[in-house]
Amino acid sequence: MKIAVIGTGYVGLVTGTCLSETGNDVICVDINEDKIKKMQNGEVPIYEPGLDLLFHRNIEQGRLHFTTNLAEAIKHAQIIFMALPTPPGGDGAADLSYILGAANDISKLITDYKIIINKSTVPVGTADKVKAVFEANTNIEVDVVSNPEFLREGVAVEDFMKPDRVVIGTKSEKAKKLLTELYEPYVRQGNPILFMDERSSELTKYAANSFLATKITFMNEVANLCELVDADVDAVRRGIGSDERIGKRFLFPGIGYGGSCFPKDVQALVKAADENEYDFQILKSVMEVNERQKTILVDKILKYYKGDIKGKHFTLWGLAFKPETDDIREAPALYIIDALVAHGATLTVFDPEGMGNVKALIGDKVIYSPDQYAALAGADALLIATEWSLFRNPDFEKIDSILKNKVIFDGRNLYNLDKMIDMGYYYNSIGRKLIN
Ligand code: UDX
Repeated sequence: MKIAVIGTGYVGLVTGTCLSETGNDVICVDINEDKIKKMQNGEVPIYEPGLDLLFHRNIEQGRLHFTTNLAEAIKHAQIIFMALPTPPGGDGAADLSYILGAANDISKLITDYKIIINKSTVPVGTADKVKAVFEANTNIEVDVVSNPEFLREGVAVEDFMKPDRVVIGTKSEKAKKLLTELYEPYVRQGNPILFMDERSSELTKYAANSFLATKITFMNEVANLCELVDADVDAVRRGIGSDERIGKRFLFPGIGYGGSCFPKDVQALVKAADENEYDFQILKSVMEVNERQKTILVDKILKYYKGDIKGKHFTLWGLAFKPETDDIREAPALYIIDALVAHGATLTVFDPEGMGNVKALIGDKVIYSPDQYAALAGADALLIATEWSLFRNPDFEKIDSILKNKVIFDGRNLYNLDKMIDMGYYYNSIGRKLIN
């Protein structure tokens, strides 16, 4: 099938690349000339495992193209994906100007039937707004479809190629038929393509992310309570996760959820509810608790040093909001850096992928180390903010020989408590026994 993808951000690029992998002819469009030029020269602009291989293979085989020329892409395609940003506006509601602007441009270029698909996370009613733009500008038949993405950063290619489900919001039989054909290769193992109306599809995305954010937040609160009553959150997590109604996944406590989706989507759903005079209380608490959870590690550090960390030097392992990404949006590590520096401490940081983005954001506020062990030199304690595999089984002898004191504050519960006792560490993690 002939496809255009408007917007080559993280979602657009993964979507375009993965759609070309099953034999479709895909043109990706972006207004950023520099970015398009780089991609035309074979450069992948984001770090996402597995993307490189598919990107290069499909370019070589002539199925994946990049352009800044919207007219050319629209002429080429019957199916047009919009994967454009929907940043929170000043009032917390998603800003639709990119989407409605693109709809306006596309509506002036089409000469035959098109399916316009919205991949971005957008408020309920957006498909109707996009439809209205087309109705105002053209008589040519179009179907406007909601088709939210559920990709997780770090495993986005795998999630796209083998989705748990594909949600398609449209009432058009013609669009349903074409999109079933398009997605059929991705759901061969039997996962469903779920058809529904546009509004339910739009809400599904917000509800899914908000539910997951709530699940994590619930566990964060259970973890905080565990510390107070001398229980172990790992045991409680296993105890409840074995109940299939609860499930084992997304029950790992930590230093708050971050990333480009959960914080923004929870906020947007609360806002949408407010606008409809519905008080979505549980999500308001989720937002509040998550803000508080981001301070947990810093609170623990301050308590240990009796409120005075002026002149202390810390090593921070992990900057990205989660492993296998260079994304630092809403990353808890940023909060930790800000708070510790504000209290007069200094930091050396190490992250396998996220250091460039942090440096671009905060410059020389911290020292950047190219090596996880070299980063430990002269530090009073090691702090862990992201659960990269690299940090899971480190060389503790090496750590001991470099770190000034055997003190670890772990926001991701990476180490076995008995091992930490044996090695004589002070080890403070989340929802588990304090080892000292
Ligand atoms: C999320 C959704 O999973 C995805 O379906 C949607 O399309 C986009 O938002 P992503 O933001 O890439 O994906 O990351 P995810 O792996 O879901 O993690 C989100 C946050 O929750 C991270 O900050 C992570 O550290 C945190 N988390 C996750 C926990 O604290 N505990 C857990 O058990 C799981």
